[in-house]
Amino acid sequence: MKKSKEELLVFYETAHAELASALEMLAACKATVSPKQAFGYFMHAKDEYNHAISFFNMLSKRGKRASIKTARDFRFTPPSLITKGYISNKGFLIDTMKLKDFIAFVYTNELLAKSSFENILNLVGRFTEEGQRITSIMTDELRHHGMAKKHFLNYYPALQPWQLMIYRIKETLNNKGRKIYDANLKFLDRLLTPLYRALAYLAGTMAKKLNLNEFKRKDKNLMNISSNSIL
Ligand SMILES: [Fe+2]
Ligand SMILES: [Fe+2]
Repeated sequence: MKKSKEELLVFYETAHAELASALEMLAACKATVSPKQAFGYFMHAKDEYNHAISFFNMLSKRGKRASIKTARDFRFTPPSLITKGYISNKGFLIDTMKLKDFIAFVYTNELLAKSSFENILNLVGRFTEEGQRITSIMTDELRHHGMAKKHFLNYYPALQPWQLMIYRIKETLNNKGRKIYDANLKFLDRLLTPLYRALAYLAGTMAKKLNLNEFKRKDKNLMNISSNSIL
């Protein structure tokens, strides 16, 4: 893959991940009965929205430099949050997970997000304007990670560090699984698109050969038409 396409892909995927986090946090904010927790989730959602905006801006900057055909492949549409697996079609995590697992999920993913930003930082350069924005996003992610950790230690003090490590391994595997799923989807798309086009061509050719005069109903007694007729 060409370097520019690689960059587009990185920002495209990251923007999806950040926007999905914002929506997950808003859902958690809505679901909690504690005003203090609702405030925490809300502020977290606000951070994630800002991260998403930053990555969409970085994506758009590169999209404008790419060819129209390439840029089209990286155009954002909200349903892709679900089709790409960033949000489950079964519902938001807060609704489908136990609270304990949800906090563990936040705890591990914030740390994984921070480390994946290290790679983006190398891509854009640490001392560029974008690099500085990414550094500040990484600080936010570490803060989120710290908040989830504090919550965990307060509410589940018996949890051992090795248990959190298992959560982390699980999430790393899930992230890899999502990438494989996405790659499979793209492969199927490449495989099936020519087939769809061939079928559309065939249907078009057949339609062209139809005598449309048969379909004219003017001055026809519809009661005399056979019940098997397609008219
Ligand atoms: Fe984020
Ligand atoms: Fe975060």
